[in-house]
Amino acid sequence: MIARKIADQMGRGSMIRKMFEEGNRLKALYGADQVYDFSLGNPDLEPPRAVQEALCRLVLDKRPGLHSYMSNAGHESVRQAVAARYSRLSGLPVTAGQVCMTVGAAGALNSVLKALLDPGDEVILLAPFFFEYLSYIDNHGGVAVEVPCDRDTLLPDLAAIRQALTPKTKAIIINSPNNPSGVIYPEWLLRALDDLLQKQDHVITVLSDEPYAELAYDGNIVPSTLACLRQVVVCTSWSKTLSLPGERIGCLIVSPRCQESDRLIQAAVYCNRVLGYVNAPALFQRVIEEAIDAKVDISLYEKRRDMLAEVLLAAGFKLQKPQGGLYLFPHSPGDDDVAFAAACARHRVLLVPGSGFHFQGYVRLCFAVKESVIENSVPAFQAIAREYGLKG
Ligand SMILES: Cc1ncc(COP(=O)(O)O)c(C=O)c1O
Repeated sequence: MIARKIADQMGRGSMIRKMFEEGNRLKALYGADQVYDFSLGNPDLEPPRAVQEALCRLVLDKRPGLHSYMSNAGHESVRQAVAARYSRLSGLPVTAGQVCMTVGAAGALNSVLKALLDPGDEVILLAPFFFEYLSYIDNHGGVAVEVPCDRDTLLPDLAAIRQALTPKTKAIIINSPNNPSGVIYPEWLLRALDDLLQKQDHVITVLSDEPYAELAYDGNIVPSTLACLRQVVVCTSWSKTLSLPGERIGCLIVSPRCQESDRLIQAAVYCNRVLGYVNAPALFQRVIEEAIDAKVDISLYEKRRDMLAEVLLAAGFKLQKPQGGLYLFPHSPGDDDVAFAAACARHRVLLVPGSGFHFQGYVRLCFAVKESVIENSVPAFQAIAREYGLKG
């Protein structure tokens, strides 16, 4: 009964999901506090107070129509607030007409991909990448073309991207700060990518997936992609910055500098509708409008990043400290990251092999976990280090 393609995809499953299930099995067996789960990217901080207060006010708001349908692009005043924020960040005159509120960043990506792709069109992905991109591209008849990042810096390799371009290349998805590597793409690189794409003889659109854009540490600034790239659609959400992943609230912004930018935003809004999202969640659109400048206390994430990095470095792991995002991405000892992740699970440490992000030889650990999980995991990491002969 189930479509062969879906049955096949379900059979393969995602590595994160497999770790999640293994985690549940181990927790049932040993107790939750005896399992060190770094596998899921679920922010563990509660939303900021400004969000909670806005929500309380709005729930009691007597204005009629709070829960009604609205324009498929979202409430005008909400889009104005988003546009004003992105104008400030980019220095470009972004207007409400270029913004569409979406069902998370995932909804934004799906709406834009549907708007852009004809069957067989190619979309470049920079490995390591968020594995769901493959499904999103496939959803709309596209073909994913994988281009590995530089293995040392984990930054996109422009020469390799140039080589991968074909007349069928329609789009490229970038993600900075990156899940899983934690790398922030510097301004020079974004501008060089823009140059490269603008030199091609057909339009190639950059989809900038930026749900981690506000999670930058050590005073790092995430360059504005709207400022650095001309043909760009920002796809983002408040899932991570406001700890609202379950509320499914995000947006897409078509740069005013895109070719046919009006047609593109109209197409994305149409796709937002016909994909069955219809519009982004009404109540949370209003929450975003009221709490547009709020964010979680990222110093807590920075502290956990440092704590977990220290534990790993002391145990002898090789690791580049992430500049942003929610993940550490150390080298896996031995080349087989899948076998290494399985060995870690035997020590009740759950992490995701880099292969799950199409980048072997690394593993991903989410540091958005309670500090006690990090503290209690030390003996387990030491035991893993001994098993793999690491020198702490
Ligand atoms: C890189 C990346 N893009 C997109 C998403 C999806 O974000 P959202 O929950 O806002 O749809 C995630 C979620 O973890 C992610 O890590």
